[in-house]
Formats: sequence, C-alpha cells, structure tokens
Amino acid sequence: MTSPTTTDSKWWQEAVIYQIYPRSFFDSNGDGEGDLPGITEKLQYVADLGVDAIWLSPFYTSPNKDGGYDIANPRDVDPRFGNLADAKLMINKAHELGLKVLVDIVPNHFSSEHAWFKAALIAGPGSKERARFHFYDKKDDGTPPNNWISLFGGPAWTQVADGQYYLHLFDSSQPDLNWENPEVDQDFKETISFWVKMGADGFRIDVAHGLAKENILTDHHDPKGLSDALRIDVDMEISKREALLASVPFFDRAGVHEIYRSWRKHFDSFDKPIMAVAEAWVHPPVNGVAYVRPDELHQVFNFDLLIAPFDAKTLFRLVNNTIEMLKDVGAYPTWAISNHDSPRVASRLGAEEARALALFLFGLPGSCYVYNGQELGLPDAEVADGDRQDPSFIRTKGETKGRDGARVPMPWSGQESPFGFSSGKSWLPLPTTWNELTVEIQSSNSDSSLSLYKRALSERARLLSAEDFTWDVSRIDHGVLGFSRAGIQVYLNSGDKSVKLQASELILSSSSAPTCENGELELMPKRAIWFKR
Ligand code: BGC
Repeated sequence: MTSPTTTDSKWWQEAVIYQIYPRSFFDSNGDGEGDLPGITEKLQYVADLGVDAIWLSPFYTSPNKDGGYDIANPRDVDPRFGNLADAKLMINKAHELGLKVLVDIVPNHFSSEHAWFKAALIAGPGSKERARFHFYDKKDDGTPPNNWISLFGGPAWTQVADGQYYLHLFDSSQPDLNWENPEVDQDFKETISFWVKMGADGFRIDVAHGLAKENILTDHHDPKGLSDALRIDVDMEISKREALLASVPFFDRAGVHEIYRSWRKHFDSFDKPIMAVAEAWVHPPVNGVAYVRPDELHQVFNFDLLIAPFDAKTLFRLVNNTIEMLKDVGAYPTWAISNHDSPRVASRLGAEEARALALFLFGLPGSCYVYNGQELGLPDAEVADGDRQDPSFIRTKGETKGRDGARVPMPWSGQESPFGFSSGKSWLPLPTTWNELTVEIQSSNSDSSLSLYKRALSERARLLSAEDFTWDVSRIDHGVLGFSRAGIQVYLNSGDKSVKLQASELILSSSSAPTCENGELELMPKRAIWFKR
C-alpha cells in the first residue's frame, strides 16, 4: 500500500463517512419522520464526531414501499423530507462544516410510480416505453418468464393487465431497469449531473452489481437455494453457499463494468473530484476488486465484517485478504460494521465487542463507514410486527423479520421516548430503555460509546497515515490480533484471557482503560487498545 495522498482530490481514500438514514435522523416538523431540515440542524453534531463526509440514504420522491429505495423521481425531494431548496441548504451547510456529501443513486430499478413505468403500462407490449424495463410474455405453460425469486421473497415477476410480466429483483413496486437500453444510461447520467450541480461530492451506488442480467429467459437450477444463499439471515453450509452465489444470473455479470467505465468518464468530467462507492456484495469477494479498477469506481463496500464473528483469526483473514486483494488495483479498502440493511453491530456481537471492533477498524488503512446511531452503541430495537414496514417482512409473510430494527430513529435527549427525535409520534417507536443511550447523556459521560468514537476519530486524524502497516499475529491462537501503523500499535482481544503487552503509553481503550505500568499494559478480553511501544 502506498501512502495516501492527502490532497483533496483523493479525499475519500482514508475518509470516515457517516451514513444518515434521513427518515430516522431528526424530525424538524413534528410529523414523526426525519427530514432534510432536521439533518441540517444536526450537522454540527455530525461534524463534531470528527467524520469527513456524510452519505444520505435516499430522500427522493418515492411512495416509500422500500424505505425510499423505490424512487419515483430521482431529481426531486419527497415532500416527507422537504424540498430541493432544503437539500441545497443541507449540502451547503455540510460544506461550511467541512463535510463532503454523498447521495444515494439507485440504478437497478425505479418505483412503479416513476413516469417511465406508468408510460410503459399504458404503451403496451413491444413499445419503446416497455423496452426501458424487462417486460416479457409468460412461458407457454402460463408461468412467469423464469423461476427467479425476488430478494424480498416471492416471485421476481409480476403480471400486468395485458398478460406480460415485468422483472423485479426486489419488491413488485421496484421494476428493474433494462441497462441494455442506452436511454437508461443517459437518464442516470442526467441524475448524476443534477446532484453534482446541487453540490454533491459523490454517490453510493445501490445494488451496483445488479444492473446487467444474463439468461433472463432461463430457469435457475435451484432458485430457492439461491434465494436462501442471498439472505444473510439464513444459515447455510459455506461451500454450498459459495457454489450457489457463484451461479447468480443477475449479479456481478461482466456487463456492469462497461457501465462503470462510462460513468467514471462522466464523474471525471466535472470540475471537482466526484467519488463513487459501489454497493456490490459479490462472491467470491475477490470479484469486488474489479469495481475499483483505475477506470471504474473509487470504492467498493466490503461487507465481510457485517457478518463476521468477533474472532481474531476470522478478522485477520478477512481484513488481510481485503487489503491484499485491493493492492492489485491500487484501491483503498472500506470498512463497515453496520448499515440500514443489517442487524446493528452492538446486537450482533455485543456492546463491548462492538466498541472494540470499531476502535480496531479505525486504526486500519482505508475508509470507515459509520451508520447513524452506531456511535451511540445502539442495539437493534424490538419492533412489533404490526409496526414493521420492510417489504421483506411483508413479502415473506413474516418469515424474515426484516430490517426495521436497525432503522429505529436516533435518541437525542430527554428521558421519554422518542427522546427528542420528534415532537410528534415517531414512525417507529424508540424503546424506553434508550434513555441511557441518548446523545445528551452520552455527551456528558467520558466513558460512553459516543465519547470513545469522538476520541478515536480525533486520534485517527492526528496520528495515523497509511505508511508502514504491519500485522502482529504472534498471539492469534489466544485471540489477540494486532498491527502497527505509523508507530501506533492497535490490538484487539477476542479471547477469554487478558494478555500483557509491552507499552510505554496508552492512547485509547475501547472500554475501562487499563493502566500502563512498568512498560506493560493489560489487554482484557473483548477490548481493543491503541498504544505506543
Ligand atoms: C439497499 C436496500 C434496498 C435494496 C433495494 C439495497 O441494497 O441498501 O435498503 O432495499 O437495495 O433497493
């Protein structure tokens, strides 16, 4: 790995990027849902965390069947979030505070409320309007064009009044776009230009690996197995999962790379650096490297850590593989342990483990993503079935609980739910036990998760650069993994015994700091520390 350039043109390489889920961040008008003015109001909080950029999940016009990832007009703001003027104010304020702004772009599908889809329904079979989507006739036996299962459960095809079917990898309200049609690419380039003109500094590309489809009229040999393999909540023997994932006919097909080569030219045509990060959950993970070749995108999410156990050997394997794989193309890694689609890390691994893992990752070379509320150590909230809104819950008839538990709004202040999030009734209830987890409470406690994140991000900015990264795996059999970077030692203990490490100065500890005495400090289980030798 070469040293990162600190010039603005490569700002993302080592950036800490804070993901905001707009509906759950802060409600400025009391309607129970977060909004853009609410984000603007809280941007100082975000800047004070010490992050470099924000990424906002969609806030565009949408019937909101899939948390806004069903977009009816990608160049406007949904009234529930405000309007375009609010978006402009929010972006300007972020820039004033030194934060770059990434917005989501969702090229795999539109909402069925998008003008193109409505026109396609009216225009009928064989029309140029239908050619923007994947419309096909039924098979001779009257069944849908193939046997694919939607990622949210149920068939991936829905029939329209004249008998044709359209493809939707997600909800039936999210018709997939046909990327073989140049009109689609043109339209997305317009959307990209639109948001760059509004001030965006980059894009998170949703389902980036899904745009090119192959064998669309061919049945898959094991559609149910494939559908289970794609669901992280379904356990499956690893070799079976890998074999199935290598056979997905709608993900990670060669055609996607053509699209990103052309997008890269578009990104590079603006008068400021524009970056893009691919949400591409591909198998085997080495395939992710292709998305960040020098003429494609700037970052690709690494999702391994969203499902990895808190175990030094596994973490070493995943992190080291990622760093090594990306060297081939000169790209920097990204690290994420929570997002709006996954169980929150504090619930998945435990509160102490979550703090330790975050501190460990903040030491690594590359870019770190932090999902709003992660800095507070929020767990997943219990959501009553009657309150659930995730289409995967609805389409699987409750078999999959869905992602609502990780989308419950932020607790800001006070003792009563919704803890300052809204003056009205919050769209999902905040657990009453979150009174201990509010920003207000944690800001005044130097041992809180929030205080740890702030200290860690400030030390990261002050001390670390990518030079001389070296692993220490000498104690890995005891669950202890370490590395040194820029003269700082970063260690994590996933084992069940404390270990003594030679140290002259403790810099950070994920919880209850050990004392550094006689040139040694004690690293307890479920902890990570930064220190100097
Ligand atoms: C987004 C999800 C969304 C899906 C369909 C994803 O990967 O992150 O929230 O449901 O794309 O758009």
